Amino acid sequence: MRYDLFANPRAVASIPAEAEQGSSPIDYHRTVPGYQPTPLLDAPRIAQALGVARVLVKDESTRLGLPSFKMLGASWATAFAVRREWLGGIEESLSPEQLRQRIPDAGAKRLVAATDGNHGRGVARMAKLMGVACNIFVPAGTAASRIADIEVEGAEVIVVDGSYDDAILRSAEEADDNTIVVSDTSWEGYSAIPREVGHGYSTMFREIDQALAANGATAPSVVAFQAGVGSFAAAGLVHYRSDAATTPPRTVIVEPLRANCLLASARAGAITEAPPPHDSTMAGLNCGLPSQLAWPIIDRTADVFVAIDDDAADVAMRAYAESGIVAGESGAASLGGLLAIVRSGHADARAAAGLLPDATVLLINTEWATDPVNYEAVVGTSPQRVQGESDTRRQAAGVVQL
Ligand SMILES: Cc1ncc(COP(=O)(O)O)c(C=O)c1O
Repeated sequence: MRYDLFANPRAVASIPAEAEQGSSPIDYHRTVPGYQPTPLLDAPRIAQALGVARVLVKDESTRLGLPSFKMLGASWATAFAVRREWLGGIEESLSPEQLRQRIPDAGAKRLVAATDGNHGRGVARMAKLMGVACNIFVPAGTAASRIADIEVEGAEVIVVDGSYDDAILRSAEEADDNTIVVSDTSWEGYSAIPREVGHGYSTMFREIDQALAANGATAPSVVAFQAGVGSFAAAGLVHYRSDAATTPPRTVIVEPLRANCLLASARAGAITEAPPPHDSTMAGLNCGLPSQLAWPIIDRTADVFVAIDDDAADVAMRAYAESGIVAGESGAASLGGLLAIVRSGHADARAAAGLLPDATVLLINTEWATDPVNYEAVVGTSPQRVQGESDTRRQAAGVVQL
């Protein structure tokens, strides 16, 4: 397992909180078909492997009927964009069904997104729920299973001859009066929708707070986020490091070594592109450029950046499987980063990541096995089998739900 680590000299304890506007994403998500809070698990065998007191895993392997957390951002941002662009700027939050009833001339309308899999699937699901067309642009080399999963939602998938960043550029060209581009990354002149994607992710962190409070459990002292363009990490950092009244947790960002745009940006002190090829098995994290919106938040509040090779993600997928948790490559990456540090035996790196014997570490398993072929090659058994045996595996590993 190879890794690179950069401790951020610019990190501050907390940044000013954004003023909350309008209704909250969690209230909206309750109106999306299939909503229920995802489990927060206590995983002692993983804690033992990391040499810490406790590991909590927010398990986003099933969220709103899809196999990753991304539907939280896609559904909230799409609802926002549809109200703004097709419904004359209605401020009141509307459920996907209410949106479907109100969209004028729905047959001519279309949603467009670029994706490495999970975000596009969420946008495609929203298009289906609202009865509009959908085109999803994916980079060359996207796993066939990921393409098929988007097509099942009724979307047309276009494979771009290039990287994820090329797919983003291609999708942006599609915007017109009848077409909304729902991107989870921002660029010059395009930030309102990705900002709402980030707000949509807040539901996950609200649920974690609720589960901890209901169990009288203490807040995490370390939170690790896997990152592609950084929207997910920024949403978590805003939650844990805005106007922090108590001791804020240490925060760790984990990326693939070959798509380490956030680590490279932190090291350079400015947004920096990670050169292609971005060919890690952690497909959701294969991004060459940080989101412009996410970067300033990450730059100010991420304590440590870790970039890992695919072996580290593999080790983490197996560790999750042993604890009866199905995690895909990107979903397992944050654990992969911490395991790589611990197994390297470097005390300085361990301390930098906050991996001390009394630490409570929060990890988010952000996806199920979205490439089942690779999952089986890595874990040695199918994701369905691990899922089927999850009760026995969890019992053996002492995993309990909070
Ligand atoms: C499973 C999974 N985890 C994490 C991420 C990272 O999210 P972001 O691109 O916002 O950094 C992605 C992005 O696609 C993903 O699919």
